[in-house]
Amino acid sequence: MIIITEITRVDDETGVGTPNQLHLAANIRKVVKIPVIAVCNVKHPAFAEQMLEEGAVDFVGIARGHLADPEWGKKASAGNDILIRKCLGCMECFRILNDGLPLGCTLNPVLGREFEYGAEKLVRDGAGRTAAVIGGGPAGMEAALRKAYGDKLICVLTFKAAC
Ligand SMILES: Cc1cc2nc3c(=O)[nH]c(=O)nc-3n(C[C@H](O)[C@H](O)[C@H](O)COP(=O)(O)O)c2cc1C
Ligand code: SF4
Repeated sequence: MIIITEITRVDDETGVGTPNQLHLAANIRKVVKIPVIAVCNVKHPAFAEQMLEEGAVDFVGIARGHLADPEWGKKASAGNDILIRKCLGCMECFRILNDGLPLGCTLNPVLGREFEYGAEKLVRDGAGRTAAVIGGGPAGMEAALRKAYGDKLICVLTFKAAC
């Protein structure tokens, strides 16, 4: 198997990934008899699909995408690209691992802690009251997304930094 890395180039400022060296992958695939796989921050299922349809690669690897959103594949097959929580490419997961700590992700507070905080462990104790989440960081957004306090509408309050 040949792995083509940097198949997308991610802009440091915007976090937007654009196709990169796809032609190299396609040219390599024409002359080898082993599978060619593309990796590196493939954020959108449509781009993965495009690479396969164009015959540029045999496989597309999504590693960090699944750390940021374990339902990447499920949402992609259901055509729900917009619902995918897309990896930022910030490399915090790599840093944490290299520091010898349990795996974690900037966007996914449950990563590496599924046994403690997985969906089946969630206890809703808001007694049906409407809740307000203060702070729109990863923990607040996760609490709102998972309706952590019950099924009533949750309001997320966040603040613009003064500096
Ligand atoms: C936390 C972390 C651990 C990884 N560990 C390995 C590893 O042990 N062996 C390996 O070949 N690649 C490893 N990789 C690289 C991934 O397999 C993948 O090639 C790379 O992250 C690029 O793909 P992606 O942008 O979809 O994450 C790791 C990547 C991350 C983020
Ligand atoms: S820590 Fe950053 S790079 Fe790693 S999976 Fe999460 S968002 Fe992506």
